[in-house]
Amino acid sequence: MLGEGDPVYLLDDRGKRYWLRVQSDMVKVQGLGVVDAGRLIGLEDGSSVKIAGREFFVFRGGLIEQMDSLDRGPQIITAKDAATMIFHLDLKAGDVVLEAGVGSGALTIALLHAVTPTGRVITVELREEFAQKARRNVERSGLAPLWDLRFGDIKEVDVEARVDAVALDMPDPWLALDNVGRFLRPGGRFAGYVPNANQVADLVNGLRERGYQEVVAFENIQRAIEVHPGGVRPSYDNLGHTGYLVFGRKTADEKTERA
Ligand SMILES: C[S@@+](CC[C@H](N)C(=O)[O-])C[C@H]1O[C@@H](n2cnc3c(N)ncnc32)[C@H](O)[C@@H]1O
Repeated sequence: MLGEGDPVYLLDDRGKRYWLRVQSDMVKVQGLGVVDAGRLIGLEDGSSVKIAGREFFVFRGGLIEQMDSLDRGPQIITAKDAATMIFHLDLKAGDVVLEAGVGSGALTIALLHAVTPTGRVITVELREEFAQKARRNVERSGLAPLWDLRFGDIKEVDVEARVDAVALDMPDPWLALDNVGRFLRPGGRFAGYVPNANQVADLVNGLRERGYQEVVAFENIQRAIEVHPGGVRPSYDNLGHTGYLVFGRKTADEKTERA
């Protein structure tokens, strides 16, 4: 049942989402006007509702819809790449993750979602002005209490923490390997996300030089399939290239153990 405080969206017959928070009050919803949000209290997730003469379904918002609906600044990570990162970093409740940089906070939200309710994400971001949008996005996700945002350069900042995983989405992650290696625990997992193939080579070589094991690099290709009365085919609007993913595991070897 939907209750006060739940982030929900109204889905119209064209697939457009209108976000609001359930509360016993009238609320202004962008694109719809003023809506009586109290009518949603006690409804089953996925119920149909009539608002201002129009039919909607009301759904509780999940991670995938949140990532789709973020205020965007810098290029955000896609759900397919964030999901692969979470799986390869073996993230679970209670894990501590070191991330850089924040961008619009899309990857941050996905990482927080994976480590909730007892974990923590420490995000290091170089530019304070970039972080405003990200902060709004993370606060809207409800996961901000587990988030530790710091300003600085991930290539030199001291985060004073032992972390289970490192996730870097920035232009030159190989230059941060010495610094993040001070905080990543032995056996901990590293993930990097870069748009260009030459960056993959620099990052893979950087990890190998520091003794990381099981270093792999790949690209996720995802094709949307459209089902029409006349046939089934890949969409003409498919997303082209997004980014390359690079993973590795830190050893307990002296070469990487610098904390
Ligand atoms: C492509 S964006 C990250 C997008 C983010 N993962 C998302 O999903 O929204 C890259 C970010 O890295 C930050 N950045 C670049 N170099 C950095 C550094 N040395 N230390 C910390 N942050 C850095 C940039 O300011 C920018 O916010």
